[in-house]
Amino acid sequence: MKSKTPSQSVTINTEVVLPNDTNHVGNLFGGKLLQWVDITAAIAAQRHCGRVVVTAAINHVSFENPISQNSIVTLEAKVSRAFTSSMEIFVDVFVENPVTGVKTKCNEAILTFVAIDQNGSPLPVPALVPETEIEQKRFDSALRRRQLSLILGGRMKPEEATELRALFMKD
Ligand SMILES: CC(C)(COP(=O)(O)OP(=O)(O)OC[C@H]1O[C@@H](n2cnc3c(N)ncnc32)[C@H](O)[C@@H]1OP(=O)(O)O)[C@@H](O)C(=O)NCCC(=O)NCCS
Repeated sequence: MKSKTPSQSVTINTEVVLPNDTNHVGNLFGGKLLQWVDITAAIAAQRHCGRVVVTAAINHVSFENPISQNSIVTLEAKVSRAFTSSMEIFVDVFVENPVTGVKTKCNEAILTFVAIDQNGSPLPVPALVPETEIEQKRFDSALRRRQLSLILGGRMKPEEATELRALFMKD
């Protein structure tokens, strides 16, 4: 299977925060943002592997800044690493000032998707070759996040986590 670069599957989604998308204090409801994040990331994963994908885990989400009603929100999803059938996706969330056009990063999410066949069984995906410095950094740290996610999901024993030895093992 031919390897791919992150730019081959980058997915950009632009939304406007409508009244129905807000919470009791007039800011974007976190669940709505998660829906946008999940869909944008799924499209990037699907573009990378050319298969149907499902969300296996939401590894990390940070709601650093509130996003007010009428804001223009841009979500940028990129595959950060591909393993056998799973892919880690980073989603960077920006808010755009409608007057100046300046975009400010306000949130970040990391998700894991798995390519599946018609029976729901995992399928192999192409390898990912990072190109930029930030892509390389995210690629390098993805194995650590995968092992932590597998431990938390009861799919890996802490002693098997080669990248997390320093956290779990006494010397
Ligand atoms: C995700 C799913 C396909 C995995 O199937 P499975 O039979 O457990 O398959 P495996 O154990 O072989 O795992 C497949 C891959 O997923 C990865 N994976 C599974 N759970 C994971 C988790 N919590 N974090 C990170 N990776 C995970 C495995 O490491 C493996 O990766 P690899 O092939 O790259 O090594 C299956 O659990 C599923 O269908 N879940 C429901 C998905 C869904 O409906 N999502 C929508 C949200 S409601």
